[in-house]
Amino acid sequence: MERVPAAIADALQRTIEGGGRICVLTGAGMSAESGIPTFRGTHDSLWSRFDPMQLARAEAWCADPALVWGWYRWRMQLVRDAQPNAGHQALADLARRVPLALVTQNVDDLHERAGSTVDAHVHGSLFALRCFACGRTHHGPLDDYVDGQQKVAPLRCTACGDAIRPGVVWFGESLPDEAWNTAVDAATRCALMLVVGTSGLVYPAAGLPALARRHGATVVEINPEPTALSAEADHVWRSTAAQALPQLLAV
Ligand code: OAD
Repeated sequence: MERVPAAIADALQRTIEGGGRICVLTGAGMSAESGIPTFRGTHDSLWSRFDPMQLARAEAWCADPALVWGWYRWRMQLVRDAQPNAGHQALADLARRVPLALVTQNVDDLHERAGSTVDAHVHGSLFALRCFACGRTHHGPLDDYVDGQQKVAPLRCTACGDAIRPGVVWFGESLPDEAWNTAVDAATRCALMLVVGTSGLVYPAAGLPALARRHGATVVEINPEPTALSAEADHVWRSTAAQALPQLLAV
C-alpha cells in the first residue's frame, strides 16, 4: 500500500494539531476512478472526443439545443451509473475529523453521494437544471435512458415555455457568485490546500491554489501527472485520488 510522503504527512499533522482549516480543490481526475472521463489528457477524454465550442457554450445551445441537451443527458447518465470511489469516501471521512472546505470544479454528485457536503460547486452541477430564458430552477423528469450521444429535445419551462438547460458553467459564462465567494473564502482561510485531479488550466478556479499560498497555506498537489499548478505547489504526490486520499486518514 502506498504511503503518504513524509512532507505531506507532516503538513497534515501540523494543520490538524494547530487547529487549521483544510481546503480541498477537486477536478475531473477525482472522479476518473469512478469511470467518469476527464476533459483533457487521455485519448478518450471529453475534449479530445467532442468539440467544446459545439457543446459547452450558450451559442452552441442556441444553435442546436437538442444536440447539447442530448450530450449533457448522456453525461448525466454516466454519472448516475457511476459510484463514488475510495478517494471521495476518504474526503468525506476526513471532513468528520478536521474542519474541511470542499471546493469542486466537478459537475457530478459523487462527493455528495460519498457523504460529503460540497461547499462550492464552482462550475455548477449537471443536475441543477434551470430555464435558459427565465432562470427558474427545474427538477426532471430525467428517467428515460439516453444511449450514446443522440439528440434529445430539451424539457420546457413550466413558467415561460423556453428550453431547460443543465446548470453547468459554460465557456464564456461567469461562475456562480455564491459558490465563487465561498471558494475564495475557503482558499484565503485555509492552512493546507489539497489540489486533487485538476490540470489547473481553467481560470479562475485554477487561481485558487496561488491565492491560498499567498495567504500562507501549504499547497499539496495530488495528481499522477505534472500540471500547470505543480510548480507552485509546496509538495506534489504523484498518485491517484482513490489511492492517495485514503492514506491521509492514517496520518
Ligand atoms: P482536466 O480534464 O483538465 O484534468 C484532469 C486532471 O486529472 C489531469 O491533470 C490528470 O492528470 C488528472 N487525473 C487523471 N486521473 C486521475 C486520478 N485517478 N486521480 C487524480 N488525478 C487524476 O479536468 P479539470 O482540471 O477538472 O469546465 O478541468 C477544469 C475544467 O475544464 C472543468 O471543470 C470543465 C473543463 O472544461 C467546465 O465544465 C466549466
